[in-house]
Amino acid sequence: GFVHAGDSVVPAPLVIAHRGASGYLPEHTLAGYELAIRMGADFIEPDLQLTQDGVLVAMHDDSLLRTTNVASQFAPRRGGYKVADFSLAEIKTLAVQPTGTGQSSHAGFAPSAAEPFQVPTFQQVIDLAQQLSQASGRSIGIYPEAKQADPAMEDGILATLARNHYGPQSKVFIQSFSDSTLRSLRRKQTAQNNVLPLMLLGVAITGADGVARLGVVSGNTVTPLALQEVASFSEGIGVSIHRPAYVVDKSFIAQAHAAGLQVHGWTFAKADPAAAATEFQRYLEMGMDGVFANYPDLAVTARKRY
Ligand code: G3P
Ligand code: CA
Repeated sequence: GFVHAGDSVVPAPLVIAHRGASGYLPEHTLAGYELAIRMGADFIEPDLQLTQDGVLVAMHDDSLLRTTNVASQFAPRRGGYKVADFSLAEIKTLAVQPTGTGQSSHAGFAPSAAEPFQVPTFQQVIDLAQQLSQASGRSIGIYPEAKQADPAMEDGILATLARNHYGPQSKVFIQSFSDSTLRSLRRKQTAQNNVLPLMLLGVAITGADGVARLGVVSGNTVTPLALQEVASFSEGIGVSIHRPAYVVDKSFIAQAHAAGLQVHGWTFAKADPAAAATEFQRYLEMGMDGVFANYPDLAVTARKRY
């Protein structure tokens, strides 16, 4: 199958490098994003946080503790190490460290960035995608996630993308777990006359009535939202493939497609090539349009074989 991504039509599923090639190299680093691009990913995914001085940086957690050496460099502030309590200049002195399966190097790969293992700004992630797009003649998409329901973050994302010439036909999705964030983004985009694709994250719900809905997760609460309603402000839905109570199946995807929504699944994290191939195959057969993958090379291989 094929899927629309900006002004290009590319083979489905779209391969979205989850936090970079995060199975191989430290997540949310320029080295990890570059490796993902070299492995053939269509999109790189930065989660976003705001620094104390209002700069968007690529980081999953609202704290610097898990992924950097902050604790060996600074005393805690207000009892912790929140990104929002540190300036960009301070954050730039930190080293991003391997977590989970990510290692500090990858055989045969030398990162070209000057700061391969520092915390990148959103702008640096965009610069990398645009530079490598130009060098390769292949358009590399960007898939930022608003990690805080904060109007300043919404404005920062829209302003940064506009400044970098992203438009309605660009290879871009802005994602969030918060439907109110996406509704607000859509209102602002419409007012600014620059409507970029949006993606609402949640879980797949098919009720006893057989009707598919998106479950919007907030803490322990899951609120079902009709797919037609989601389609009024979003181009797609991103669903968990790991919540046993909320199974993604062929009927769910067909109903999302009928509502005009793309379906992207997260997170494909199997390191074993055979196990990964089986998992990708299963979701490809269901018609999934995009996969968030920690091992983007395995996703690219699965798509070629399909
Ligand atoms: O954005 C899709 C997926 O990345 C959501 O999970 O926690 O890795 O941001 P998380
Ligand atoms: Ca994410």
